[in-house]
Amino acid sequence: MKQICVIGVGYVGLVTGTCFADLGNRVIALDVNEQRIENLKKGIMPIYEPGLEELVKRNMQAGRLSFTTSYKEALKGTEFAFIAVGTPSGVNGEADLQYVAAAARSVAEAMEAPLIIINKSTVPVGTGDWVADIVKKSQSKPIPFSVVSCPEFLREGSAISDFMNPHRTVLGSLDREAAEKVAQLHLPLRAPIMITDLRTAEMIKYASNAFLATKISFINEIAAICEALGADVKEVATGMGLDKRIGPMFLDAGLGWGGSCFPKDVLALAYMADEKGVEPHILNAVSKVNYNQRHLVRKNLDEMLGTVKGKTIGLLGLAFKPNTDDMRDAPSIDIAQELTAAGASVRGYDPVAMEVARTILPAVEMFDDPYTLAKGCDALVIVTEWNEFKQLDLERIKGLLKSPVVYDGRNIYDPAIMRSMGFNYRGVGRGYDVNGNQH
Ligand code: UDX
Ligand code: UDX
Repeated sequence: MKQICVIGVGYVGLVTGTCFADLGNRVIALDVNEQRIENLKKGIMPIYEPGLEELVKRNMQAGRLSFTTSYKEALKGTEFAFIAVGTPSGVNGEADLQYVAAAARSVAEAMEAPLIIINKSTVPVGTGDWVADIVKKSQSKPIPFSVVSCPEFLREGSAISDFMNPHRTVLGSLDREAAEKVAQLHLPLRAPIMITDLRTAEMIKYASNAFLATKISFINEIAAICEALGADVKEVATGMGLDKRIGPMFLDAGLGWGGSCFPKDVLALAYMADEKGVEPHILNAVSKVNYNQRHLVRKNLDEMLGTVKGKTIGLLGLAFKPNTDDMRDAPSIDIAQELTAAGASVRGYDPVAMEVARTILPAVEMFDDPYTLAKGCDALVIVTEWNEFKQLDLERIKGLLKSPVVYDGRNIYDPAIMRSMGFNYRGVGRGYDVNGNQH
């Protein structure tokens, strides 16, 4: 049992701290947002993540997890301090490290004993050295410390399972002994642990995220070609994925990626390359393809309806992916804004992200369920593939719509079935149906 402090109780920090507590460690989670900490003390979660509330409450009751805004309190008797504060994109796409710097300074000022400082947040290559400099300069007296990079590979919506069943743990440090100690914390997860240097560990995180984003933009480009040539990209992806060198995951064509990671990490990596005079040809193309996907909705609806001007369009799903309330860089935002700008009235429904969406999409009329939303709509768009949309009563939906037009931005429906039900249906890259009809 070790004593661990986690700084930043966001999507990554809260899951990381709670899971380490669940492994039997004593965890103190810190955040500068007092309201967030007060709520957590009352068992109120700052984010939606399946299974998190129960895990937090159970570990609080067991005395393994507590919350504070005081660095002094958080670091007392602590051996490990994880920095998991936000690293949003700056104006040119570079990672904004002001919060990491603030956390490093606060740790340096509050620490009274040797400490291992672990960068959990996604930080640009070379940040580990930079954090060490900040800590050294901010200490009132020299106290030994080491910096270890331990990038996170958590997907929102499955973050707890991803933490407990990692494909691998990557650790980077100039101090091998410190890295070994952090490796010990991860032994119960029984996954390969790789120890390398700081910069390599930081690069593994960026390269991994950028590759996953590339896979998605690749299949989205193939979808566009399938649409033009009459092939079905879902079948193509299945055929590709059977090749073990390719694998079936992250080959779902659709409206592309959003969230707080792929967008900022692809941009940040391209920025780092550019800064060093290395042209990021592929990374730039990956972003370009991705953001073009969001225009497919207006483009297809203009073709399916004649025009979106004066029409009422219903968006099903607003969060950037299912099983989260996270709206950061969600495709729904650009899609709603483009449709509104084109003169359409836009409606929205999401099983979980409604409260967050209301503040971000004031022009979108929100509804509490898909059927009420559908009544009187000229078209329905699947933006996020929540499971509940896969089992919708489509006959009922068809009766509620002014015109039976469905644009399936996540290919959750079968084109042949939709057409046989009388829908004017399109997916993304679905080519021809079994009767040879163009989608
Ligand atoms: C994190 C990492 O920042 C990001 O690099 C990684 O790719 C994804 O996980 P996330 O957990 O989503 O991002 O951040 P966010 O949900 O914004 O939470 C950050 C938390 O840090 C917030 O609760 C914020 O209040 C807190 N914070 C911010 C601090 O405690 N101290 C600060 O100085 C700044
Ligand atoms: C991602 C990485 O998967 C994770 O390892 C890293 O730590 C953080 O960033 P996350 O962004 O939470 O996780 O979700 P993920 O499931 O990867 O989806 C990212 C985006 O890609 C979502 O917008 C999703 O809709 C989209 N996506 C995913 C596709 O469009 N097609 C796919 O096949 C898979």
